[in-house]
Amino acid sequence: MASAAGSVLEVIGGTPSVWLDRMVARRGLEGRILAKLDYLNPGFSKKDRAALGIIEAAESDGSLAPGQTVVELTSGNMGTGLAIVCGVKGYPFVAVMSRGNSVERARMMAALGAEVVLVEQAPGSVPGEVSGADLALVEIEARQITAERGAFRADQFRHPGNPAAHAQTTGPELWAESGGKLTAFVDFAGSGGTYAGTIRALKRVNPGLRGYVLEPAGAAVLSGQVASDMAHPIQGGGYAMPELDLMADVPVDGYLQIGGDVARDTARALAREEGIFAGFSAGANVAAALELLTGPERGGCIGVIICDSGLKYLSTDLWA
Ligand SMILES: Cc1ncc(COP(=O)(O)O)c(C=O)c1O
Repeated sequence: MASAAGSVLEVIGGTPSVWLDRMVARRGLEGRILAKLDYLNPGFSKKDRAALGIIEAAESDGSLAPGQTVVELTSGNMGTGLAIVCGVKGYPFVAVMSRGNSVERARMMAALGAEVVLVEQAPGSVPGEVSGADLALVEIEARQITAERGAFRADQFRHPGNPAAHAQTTGPELWAESGGKLTAFVDFAGSGGTYAGTIRALKRVNPGLRGYVLEPAGAAVLSGQVASDMAHPIQGGGYAMPELDLMADVPVDGYLQIGGDVARDTARALAREEGIFAGFSAGANVAAALELLTGPERGGCIGVIICDSGLKYLSTDLWA
């Protein structure tokens, strides 16, 4: 950076990318994986981009008034991004999260000035494994608080500012940092905002580039399968929602599934072999990219996002 930033908001995005050449070589694979280190954002996740994108779009179109309260359902990362953006811009922020998400997330959001409302998990749900049923309960609570407070709902699952942020920043950054060499992109879907925005930007510059959507094994409903086992530790996505609004009309060339154990093992390998300390979904993305190099994308160049920091999982079994 040539000069100092005026606020932390100016250092959201523009994260470095790293070739995972050691992991690829160690497995005897042909091709390359380019990992965008989005855990180096101010809130230690890629969701800072979506938070800034939604708030600035809402400021521009007048749907967010000065000083109005902002409310959002979050697995922790979106809430952290919004806590940062709202804190700097002067909007009170209420984060509504399932108790099933790790405790680090709630503490971090509160430290950044957010009011954190924790919602009990659905009967039978497991801490650390947030299901679609858990999320539905969080949604009910978020709607109620939004209505009670006359608040602006950031609505990451529907607001176009979410994919737009990735179309304007993540996609072009990955393309430039690959030297115009990317042939595929794979991403674990939560709201689908990262996938939708990034693939749109990448296909604009390289129409032949292929996009793969990643889901947890057993909860791969976007690919048309029936959910058989919705429990998985990959926080931030894989909610087994049959339709994601942000994915409508978004090109998908293939669907992949990764089990929680593989995501965990790959996050651990990423830490040991590449020095990249990240969470479950980053492990899932890298595992999927490695799998693609063994098959349809052999010899290709695959982009992935390192979604959030491993520090957010110190209380889970990821590093046990
Ligand atoms: C750690 C993590 N991984 C993946 C995702 C999914 O990203 P998206 O909502 O853009 O699909 C999220 C979303 O919150 C996340 O927090």
